[in-house]
Amino acid sequence: MSRAAVLAGIGSCLPPRAVSNAELAPALDSSDAWIRSRTGVRRRHVADPGTATSDLAVGAGARALKSSGEPQADAVLVATTTPDHPCPATAPAVASRLGLGGVAAYDVSAVCTGFVYALATAAGLIAARAADRVLVIGAETFTSILDPTDRSTAVIFGDGAGAVVLRAGEPDEPGALGPFDLGSDGEGQDLITVPAGGSRQRLSGVPATAAEHCFRMAGKEVFWRAVRRMARSGRTVLDRAGWSPADVDRLVSHQANARIIQHLADDLGIPRDRSVSDIAEVGNTAAASIPLALDRAHADGVLRAGDRVLLTAFGGGLTWGSTVLTWPRLERA
Ligand code: UT7
Repeated sequence: MSRAAVLAGIGSCLPPRAVSNAELAPALDSSDAWIRSRTGVRRRHVADPGTATSDLAVGAGARALKSSGEPQADAVLVATTTPDHPCPATAPAVASRLGLGGVAAYDVSAVCTGFVYALATAAGLIAARAADRVLVIGAETFTSILDPTDRSTAVIFGDGAGAVVLRAGEPDEPGALGPFDLGSDGEGQDLITVPAGGSRQRLSGVPATAAEHCFRMAGKEVFWRAVRRMARSGRTVLDRAGWSPADVDRLVSHQANARIIQHLADDLGIPRDRSVSDIAEVGNTAAASIPLALDRAHADGVLRAGDRVLLTAFGGGLTWGSTVLTWPRLERA
């Protein structure tokens, strides 16, 4: 009998400082009205210097473990674009600080799709009996790689972390994840990138400028790719699950842009009011966006036990991925 990965706990962590559009706009020759109407973002949380991705990951992970009722996991995966260091991975330090030292711990790098890739990886660990309980965290201090003068990115992104605990269970029980659809298109690698800091633009060569260490996104080129890829991937998992769009109670997509979320619902044929969105409050938090949105929707009673949920994400790479689950009864830490 194949073992499924079943959602057993959820939690999140936002840095305390919230920055409004009005605070950001003047330096960028932008306005609250432009940011709200073009992106849906009203404010975002920003980590102070000295707060690293692992700090937010530990906060979210501790809450997810508490909500699961057992402070145990035998693997920790951290999906992030902004690891504490290029080397080593962030997950071992997170596991150690959560008192889970000794377990398998590694990072998953798929930018804004990272959390869905990490869910699939965790489900694979459980199916292969390499783990019985996996803590999956999406965590970012994305503002640490933003160019503060780039108005096409500086107004969108924010910091935060969300986490879930997955346990081994039965494929037909509430909370069981899957099927999955994952994909990539490396021809679009330059559309979302941090040019320097890796082996392509080496430390030993011509020194990189500060701007080359910052995140760049060709927003216009990416916009419709995000809508179409998430829609296609979402349809694929719905077909594999034997669900129709009408069966979906809640669509929880990567929170890239409020207009992307609306177009995605339209493309999938899912009423817009079934979309979950917290982008107004937290902006685009990359790998943290789906678990943050799930935790808030769960806390607010927007996601209820028995709801059929479609998760879908798109990000740098380019990458995309989707899965489905029926929302289980969960405690909130
Ligand atoms: O998370 C990974 C996936 N990410 C995404 O999928 C993001 C996809 N892209 C987007 O969300 C949008 O393309 C952006 C929010 C990045 C940009 O919005 P847009 O509606 O596509 O704007 P645009 O780039 O077409 O620019 C329209 C106008 C331009 O002015 P002109 O040339 O028409 O005079 C820009 O210079 O808006 C201007 N503009 C701004 N104005 C005020 C661009 N950014 C700003 C800004 N404030 N922050």
